[in-house]
Amino acid sequence: MKFKTIEWKGDRVRILDQRRLPQEVHYLDCRDAASVGKAIRTMAIRGAPAIGVAAAMGIALAARKTRSHQPETFFKTLNDVCDAMRETRPTAVNLFWAVGRMKKMLDEVYVRGVDGTKERLVKEALRILEEDVEVNRKIGMFGKKLIREGNGVLTHCNAGALATGGYGTALGVIYSAWDEGKKFQVFVDETRPLLQGCRLTAWELIQEKIPATVITDNMAGALMMKGKIDLVLVGADRIASNGDTANKIGTYGVAVLSRWHGIPFYVAAPTSTLDLTLASGSDIPIEERDVGEVTHFQGVPVAPKGIRAFNPAFDVTPGSLIDGIITEKGIVRKPFKKNLRKLFLTPNSRKKRFQTGSCRTPNFREAS
Ligand code: MRU
Repeated sequence: MKFKTIEWKGDRVRILDQRRLPQEVHYLDCRDAASVGKAIRTMAIRGAPAIGVAAAMGIALAARKTRSHQPETFFKTLNDVCDAMRETRPTAVNLFWAVGRMKKMLDEVYVRGVDGTKERLVKEALRILEEDVEVNRKIGMFGKKLIREGNGVLTHCNAGALATGGYGTALGVIYSAWDEGKKFQVFVDETRPLLQGCRLTAWELIQEKIPATVITDNMAGALMMKGKIDLVLVGADRIASNGDTANKIGTYGVAVLSRWHGIPFYVAAPTSTLDLTLASGSDIPIEERDVGEVTHFQGVPVAPKGIRAFNPAFDVTPGSLIDGIITEKGIVRKPFKKNLRKLFLTPNSRKKRFQTGSCRTPNFREAS
């Protein structure tokens, strides 16, 4: 990638400010956890895996900057930072997953001491970033076979390098297929109201010189009807145990259209986006954002004063409309309830299950 979404600089976290793209490549230097939290809340950095990485780095920064050598005080300060990070955005589970990993390190402060814990927290944040890039590349490797020469591939929102530690999930699949030499067209839903498709996905694809066409969200059906779309690839913010998937508002509509037109619809997401504690998508908390994002366009009113507006940032696509979930462990197909759980079986638990004949598979992580 020709840019870095987020970087650890030792005394600060450097974030590519996505609110200014595509007009300007501007980096924000966050010097404390509060400014990292603000960057997540105000969407200077966004996308499920990327906000997980940012939260982890914000906690690591707080650890580095905390002066106290008393385990109790250190624990209390950092625990408050973890709580504050959890409050930044509600839907993407990667945020809670990453904070959970950091919290585990923090919990050992009474055993390992303050200095040791500080270094472990920094290392863990960097590991979360590195692992995310590796995982994205694996998703790309598994997903690339879905794209055929000459295909039209539609994507919604931004699930690229900007939305992750680097490379991307849905866009990672596109990059992998392109790098293999396949030639195809990408159609990019603009993704109202914040235009993550038009501003961010299109910007990434231009950098990578991959042929792409931006469309407004209401054009997807017409393109499908004309036979221009062969495959839909989207990212995810949280996937429930039955495969129901929360992703950027508008994804559900694209999935319904895909089913009507018989077009394969795939979700690309790391296993850190799975929330197997939830039975279905109706349990996923959906963020509602300021209605000004709907009534105004870049600060200019586009609706009459006094009109009511509604601004859910995500919707839930039922698992029944999804042909497969591309993870770093392979492509998972229906029945999702059974097959998603299988991803968390270790070789040992598989053996044990075989030996005991037990059907219980409790070996999956706690999501939040
Ligand atoms: O509100 P955003 O921009 O954070 O929403 C992002 C999305 O919905 C992405 O599609 C999702 O996080 C997947 S990113 C790999």
